[in-house]
Amino acid sequence: MMLLSGTANRPLAEQIAAELEVPLCSVTIDRFADGEIFVRIDENVRGRDVFIIQPTSAPAENVMELLLLIDAAQRASAARVTAVVPYFGYARQDRKDQPRVAIGAKLLANLIVEAGADRVVSIDLHQHQLQAFFDIPVDHLYALPVFVAHYETRHLDPLVVVASDVGAAKMARGYARRLGGEMAMIDKRRPAPNVSEVATVVGDVKGKNCLIPDDMIDTGGTMVGAVHALKEKGAEDIFICATHALLSGPAVERLSGLPVKEVTVTDTIFVPEEKRWPGLRTLSVAKLLARAMYFIHDNESVSSLFE
Ligand code: R5P
Repeated sequence: MMLLSGTANRPLAEQIAAELEVPLCSVTIDRFADGEIFVRIDENVRGRDVFIIQPTSAPAENVMELLLLIDAAQRASAARVTAVVPYFGYARQDRKDQPRVAIGAKLLANLIVEAGADRVVSIDLHQHQLQAFFDIPVDHLYALPVFVAHYETRHLDPLVVVASDVGAAKMARGYARRLGGEMAMIDKRRPAPNVSEVATVVGDVKGKNCLIPDDMIDTGGTMVGAVHALKEKGAEDIFICATHALLSGPAVERLSGLPVKEVTVTDTIFVPEEKRWPGLRTLSVAKLLARAMYFIHDNESVSSLFE
């Protein structure tokens, strides 16, 4: 088993390596003078089971690094190359919902497969169906057990798990079932990309603690709308959790000013110091990924990780 990391989230890769007690393979990632990316795997990977850890969060160079590392591993005769993509960026572009738009998620899946990946591991894909965009096996993990273990210590009763939009309903149901709460839903509309409007709250939240799980927080607009709508309906304490902390544009300013108990994210994407505030808590998915990688390497089932 060999672990390689791009530069997108080296701290996560180091934690995974520590969990597996396998050192990270030495890799040179450099730039030509014009910015072109150069990668070289500095150790022999011939016949090895290679795992390349790299989320495809912005900037797009992260995607290019991943593709180059996959290509380098294949050309160096690795026995199997698994792309460990904790956050699969471009996933929101998963259909042609307007004339003349690209299907970015399919394109990225094609690129990863074409580069030579034999397998993909990811967490909380924006849509479960994205697995079908790859003609190779995909192990789709959920951050839910990591969040549930955290919230079980929080005594949230009486709890309502609130889906921030229709797409998040299945995820919210999973949290409600595991944490023992009721469910509510926000009727959200998107007049433009990254602009969200709350139409109404479906369900009773008055006097209840609310947990709003989502797959990602980008600009924070969805959460701001949801929190204000829930407060207006008389919600007690509000907790926000999201797997992927994109935290772009005004997100930090918006979220740090919200009347919520806690904003909890995972480390699928590296959150730099300047994007952290006291109310932000980061849970690690390193153990989850490490166990999945161990099971894959050992040809064992990964389904125990959904418990
Ligand atoms: C929407 O489908 C997603 O699950 C998130 O709710 C959304 O992408 C978050 O974006 P923002 O933070 O910009 O509202």
